[in-house]
Amino acid sequence: MNNLVVAFVSFFLATGAVAINFEFDIDAGLALPVENPYEEIAQEYEMNQIEFGSSLNKKPTVKVSNVNSHGLHEFTPISDTIVQSDTKYYSFSVNTTSGLGEFYELLIFITGNICTQPSNVGANQTSLAVYYSFNSSIFTNIEYSTMVLFENGYVQSLADVAVNSNNNESVLYIVVRAPENVNKTATWTYQIGVSQNDLVFQWDDQTWAQFIDSDDDSALVVTGNLTNVQGLNITELNATRSQFSLYVYSNDYRHYFDTLNSSWCAVRNGPALMNPATIESSYTSRQGSLHQQFHLTGLNKSTKYIAYLISDFHGSDFGGAVYRPFEFETLDTEACELIYNLEFCNQIAYSVPATPGGSKEEVRSLYDNQARNLFTNFSKAIQQISCDTEDTAQFSPIKTCSDCISSYKDWLCAITIPRCSTRNITGYTERKPGESRNSFINDIVMPNLSYYEVMPCVNICEAIVRDCPAQFGFMCPTTNETIRQSYYWDNGGQWPTCNYVGKLTVVTNAAFRASMVNWFMLVLSVALTVLV
Ligand SMILES: *[C@@H]1O[C@H](CO)[C@@H](O)[C@H](O)[C@H]1NC(C)=O
Ligand SMILES: *[C@@H]1O[C@H](CO)[C@@H](O)[C@H](O)[C@H]1NC(C)=O
Ligand SMILES: *[C@@H]1O[C@H](CO)[C@@H](O)[C@H](O)[C@H]1NC(C)=O
Ligand SMILES: *[C@@H]1O[C@H](CO)[C@@H](O)[C@H](O)[C@H]1NC(C)=O
Ligand SMILES: *[C@@H]1O[C@H](CO)[C@@H](O)[C@H](O)[C@H]1NC(C)=O
Ligand SMILES: *[C@@H]1O[C@H](CO)[C@@H](O)[C@H](O)[C@H]1NC(C)=O
Ligand SMILES: *[C@@H]1O[C@H](CO)[C@@H](O)[C@H](O)[C@H]1NC(C)=O
Ligand SMILES: *[C@@H]1O[C@H](CO)[C@@H](O)[C@H](O)[C@H]1NC(C)=O
Ligand SMILES: *[C@@H]1O[C@H](CO)[C@@H](O)[C@H](O)[C@H]1NC(C)=O
Ligand SMILES: *[C@@H]1O[C@H](CO)[C@@H](O)[C@H](O)[C@H]1NC(C)=O
Ligand SMILES: *[C@@H]1O[C@H](CO)[C@@H](O)[C@H](O)[C@H]1NC(C)=O
Ligand SMILES: *[C@@H]1O[C@H](CO)[C@@H](O)[C@H](O)[C@H]1NC(C)=O
Repeated sequence: MNNLVVAFVSFFLATGAVAINFEFDIDAGLALPVENPYEEIAQEYEMNQIEFGSSLNKKPTVKVSNVNSHGLHEFTPISDTIVQSDTKYYSFSVNTTSGLGEFYELLIFITGNICTQPSNVGANQTSLAVYYSFNSSIFTNIEYSTMVLFENGYVQSLADVAVNSNNNESVLYIVVRAPENVNKTATWTYQIGVSQNDLVFQWDDQTWAQFIDSDDDSALVVTGNLTNVQGLNITELNATRSQFSLYVYSNDYRHYFDTLNSSWCAVRNGPALMNPATIESSYTSRQGSLHQQFHLTGLNKSTKYIAYLISDFHGSDFGGAVYRPFEFETLDTEACELIYNLEFCNQIAYSVPATPGGSKEEVRSLYDNQARNLFTNFSKAIQQISCDTEDTAQFSPIKTCSDCISSYKDWLCAITIPRCSTRNITGYTERKPGESRNSFINDIVMPNLSYYEVMPCVNICEAIVRDCPAQFGFMCPTTNETIRQSYYWDNGGQWPTCNYVGKLTVVTNAAFRASMVNWFMLVLSVALTVLV
């Protein structure tokens, strides 16, 4: 029992990490002959196998003559279409020497996705039904079987089979049945995946991506924490091979997936405005751990979009997970330019007052160089302070020079590189051309449109007072009136009320709760119920 649980934990942790390495079993031996009279299915079966095999460059050699229904293989979903009132048959040969379970009992995970369904099927109408049994008589009479219905485009069930010496060739028989429809040619497309190790399809009702910021034509989105950054060279990681990808839909399609919102397959195959082929993706360690970031370009101004993060378990043919979608909106004018991946101010990823006609790269280096130059004097000053001597000689027993340097840098970057918005939100300060925060912005950046400045969060200032030696004489405004002149507070809400720069020590955003854990809990509790 304990062994099983441990095995499960490590499996799920492995799938949560960046490098996913599934071992696939496309062994033709799995497809045991199934006795049933449906000859034509055998032909389709052959076609399906070749299609699936080629995507992994491993062509299974299937002896079609013996097979009379669609043979399902470990973690290899099958794609199929079905018309109303029709029935489809599948079988899965249980491998009695692998998978999860104890020596006398094996677990089999059955999951499915609806990719498309007839447009006249509403949220409350009965969807496709999946029947399963280990008794082949299900193919002639589905009464003696377990039934599960697709909901929101998703179906999941767990079958357990007793393994005994007399019957060591267990076959799971699966039947998919479509409901009646007034349109006699109404058609569904779906995928069914069976595995002895995991759910082939998954969904999560939490978002696992976070919208960072946008300007009038671009936006930046990051995933949750993928792993620790220690020992990783971010520039060497190639995000094109990542399992995570983003699909962006027009806001007109916000109800498109209302009845299929838990289907990875539906989101992947829908009428997306932008998909992984048109979205630039890379990794970042900005938030102190590894995140994948998506840079969306060519957006329209003042426009709302719906974005879905999905996870492909192994390319496009071996299942995946869909997360809760989220919405974002572009800014109204060209006053702001979204910049990120700065060399010096590496914590910065937000929109800043734009230089008219300046490219993203020009705007980025203009601000970054200014901050780097201003930092030079400070780094000379901190060398005068006894930092790296014995503990007693240090300015504080708990704070080190590097804490002070990093807090100062965050503060300097926040005040040198103001955050820009075109929304009038409480706490934002309106800046007309020539009335920006300082002469560098007025005279060098020279914004020619009005914008709102998102004031730095007052805790950025409080951090340098806390982390730096008193000799520097850093002070922050203390009354609400004086704070309001240069800073603001984080009041929560849809839009940030102040600009926070630096690594967040406490992550409060629900978007970043580790969602993998949820899947694990779900599956584990199912597994326990069966086994106890
Ligand atoms: C069953 O699984 C084991 C371990 O993964 C594998 O070595 C074996 O070939 C499988 N048996 C069949 C019949 O596929
Ligand atoms: C579905 O049924 C529930 C309760 O049975 C009802 O509240 C809801 O409005 C229905 N939705 C649709 C789209 O018909
Ligand atoms: C399979 O189901 C049929 C009909 O319900 C039953 O008569 C038969 O005994 C079952 N076979 C097994 C091996 O359980
Ligand atoms: C499985 O069945 C075959 C024949 O059906 C038999 O020879 C073999 O010993 C069985 N294996 C086990 C582990 O029971
Ligand atoms: C009936 O279904 C077919 C196939 O899905 C579709 O092409 C056709 O437009 C539908 N007809 C009506 C009247 O909805
Ligand atoms: C990121 O994830 C890794 C591994 O899952 C964990 O050790 C680390 O503490 C996380 N970092 C943050 C900032 O949550
Ligand atoms: C990271 O990889 C790049 C390219 O391979 C290399 O130029 C750079 O020196 C590496 N950085 C570190 C810290 O190893
Ligand atoms: C990343 O991987 C893709 C395909 O795997 C390849 O085409 C591309 O050249 C790689 N990019 C880099 C920078 O290595
Ligand atoms: C931008 O708007 C145009 C015209 O309304 C539309 O055709 C286009 O698809 C939109 N593009 C995006 C990315 O929203
Ligand atoms: C899909 O919608 C249902 C009901 O509206 C909700 O319970 C479920 O969490 C949603 N799924 C996702 C992946 O957001
Ligand atoms: C911004 O909003 C504030 C309060 O709602 C209002 O007093 C101010 O006039 C607005 N500024 C502009 C430029 O609309
Ligand atoms: C200062 O402002 C904060 C945040 O808006 C508020 O919670 C606090 O009550 C204010 N204090 C005074 C003395 O007005």
